[in-house]
Amino acid sequence: MKIGKVRRLADCHNIADFRELARRRLPFPVFHYIDGAADDEVTLARNTAAFDDVDLVPDVLVGADDLDTSVTIMGRESALPLILSPTALQRIFHWQGERATAAVAEKYGLWFGISSLSTVSMEEVGSRWSGPKMLQFYYHRDRGLNASLVERARDAKFDAITLTVDTIVSGNRERCKRSGFTTPPRLTPANILSYARHPSWALNFLFREKFDLPNLSTHVDAGSGKAISIQDYFNSMLDPGLNWKAAEQLRDDWGGTFCLKGIMSVADARRAADMGVDAIMVSNHGGRQLDGSRAPFDQLGEIVEAVGDRVEVICDGGVRRGTHVLKALATGAKAASGGRMYLYALAAAGEAGVDRAIQIMREEIRRGMQLMGVNRIDQLTRERLKRR
Ligand code: FNR
Repeated sequence: MKIGKVRRLADCHNIADFRELARRRLPFPVFHYIDGAADDEVTLARNTAAFDDVDLVPDVLVGADDLDTSVTIMGRESALPLILSPTALQRIFHWQGERATAAVAEKYGLWFGISSLSTVSMEEVGSRWSGPKMLQFYYHRDRGLNASLVERARDAKFDAITLTVDTIVSGNRERCKRSGFTTPPRLTPANILSYARHPSWALNFLFREKFDLPNLSTHVDAGSGKAISIQDYFNSMLDPGLNWKAAEQLRDDWGGTFCLKGIMSVADARRAADMGVDAIMVSNHGGRQLDGSRAPFDQLGEIVEAVGDRVEVICDGGVRRGTHVLKALATGAKAASGGRMYLYALAAAGEAGVDRAIQIMREEIRRGMQLMGVNRIDQLTRERLKRR
């Protein structure tokens, strides 16, 4: 239920409020790039709705006053069972971009990821923030670029490489087609008014640091200022031939903690565990790739049963509430992760926005655990959930 309008950061009390504020503050092509997904966006909606098909069953009178929300994820302590998923192009959403996300992740003691398409370099992120971080890896046709990403991640002391396996070609993002969203954003007759109506965004974008994709610009002209659609980038640069052998080779070349992002089937989860990966992110890329595919939370139970004793399973996508995180944990996930839950806040208000969003998620997780009558994450077990 909505009471009152969301006009300022102080009006934001949940993730939906940040979405509303981002919608107000961004030119529409940028907002719809974040908010949108593939085709009819059925999977986008299902990713969050899936959490509503199970109910939490609380225990009472157990003394929930000794709360510990920490977990170990891929060998590093995390203060909450929550990960900020890697997302592209953050300086387009707000001029502070990945710097804001990294600073807040470090403040709250959380894992975060930067995308291959990040707008701040992995060298800068590695040297400025010591908290746990992953490089999200897109597997390019250009093997020299792949090798350079691995080397740079190693030199920048990233804790993990996460290979995204659901994006060998681009999903059909129709909102971007209609809005003409490109990187960097390009003015068209259809969208120019929207940029003019958001002068604060436009001035920051035009007069602060120049747009760049520094992880790629050593090898391609992606940072040259030439506007291309994300769809064109994916379809021309990424290797649709990516297979298990290549994934294993990448893992071996890297030699460190390795995660596969975008595993959805039990058979693939088994294969990932056999390969010896450290973690898998059960994910459909926030509904941005294969529309009509199953929600991560719907698929989580079977995957945990099959491989949960051999590999860390992270439930990625659809998370908008602390109780969604608790439901994923009770199903056996090591942690939950998400993109839009912090991106709306970044777009709405930069670092202050991400800080408030994560603070709200932390409060929701803590309060939810206390109301469930648990003091530790491992007390959230399958018996604490009932399917309707
Ligand atoms: C993403 N995601 C993503 N994933 C990835 O592997 N590399 C990337 O560059 C990006 N970029 C990106 C941009 C934007 C704007 C969004 C919303 C998402 C997917 C992301 O890591 C994560 O899987 C989803 O965001 C999960 O869904 P929710 O939490 O947004 O519902």
